[in-house]
Amino acid sequence: MKIVIITGSNRKSATSTRLAVNMGQLISKKGHQVQLFDLFETPLPFYSPEGIGFDHATVQSLQQAMLQADGVVLATPEYHGSLSGVLKNALDFLGQEHFRGKAVLSMSSSGGAVGTSSLLQLQSIVRNLHGINSPDWVSIGGAQRNELADGFADYEGSGQGINDRIHRAALSFLELAAQVRGN
Ligand SMILES: Cc1cc2nc3c(=O)[nH]c(=O)nc-3n(C[C@H](O)[C@H](O)[C@H](O)COP(=O)(O)O)c2cc1C
Repeated sequence: MKIVIITGSNRKSATSTRLAVNMGQLISKKGHQVQLFDLFETPLPFYSPEGIGFDHATVQSLQQAMLQADGVVLATPEYHGSLSGVLKNALDFLGQEHFRGKAVLSMSSSGGAVGTSSLLQLQSIVRNLHGINSPDWVSIGGAQRNELADGFADYEGSGQGINDRIHRAALSFLELAAQVRGN
């Protein structure tokens, strides 16, 4: 399957981006094609309903990749109990044609121990875009942000820690994506 990951931090070395990279490595290891859009590395213009920026190269490549995607992963820092502005801006460039009938996994990184407000809001946006929310989500927060495993592609999962929860969320997301795409 083709999986698109969009990371919503606007800073280098962001923990939400590291979480997304780890997730991408794991999904690749399972034999899927992963395309990651890091909105810090490749920023998008501000969305305008008047079409300004629609010809921007990264906007076009994001829209094209999303049309072809079988599943989507969204990662955001928790900002003021919500998702980041840069991720919301990216989602404003997308529509139901990019999400309809596709599994979507939402992930967040927060300063507090758990950050589910951004995840609830992401899932609401996904529902509006007619995507299918994965049964699991991933919230890393507080000290857990330092516990992300290196070499995640080889991580097999064996316990109750944060890396095991990430592993389980990846598997349930891939299972849902395969079911809804008939793979
Ligand atoms: C503008 C701003 C708002 C934030 N709001 C929250 C918040 O509401 N709840 C929380 O737990 N952490 C909050 N934080 C802390 C970030 O969620 C935390 O540092 C997170 O790990 C950042 O993710 P990153 O490493 O991907 O940049 C906020 C940080 C910033 C800069």
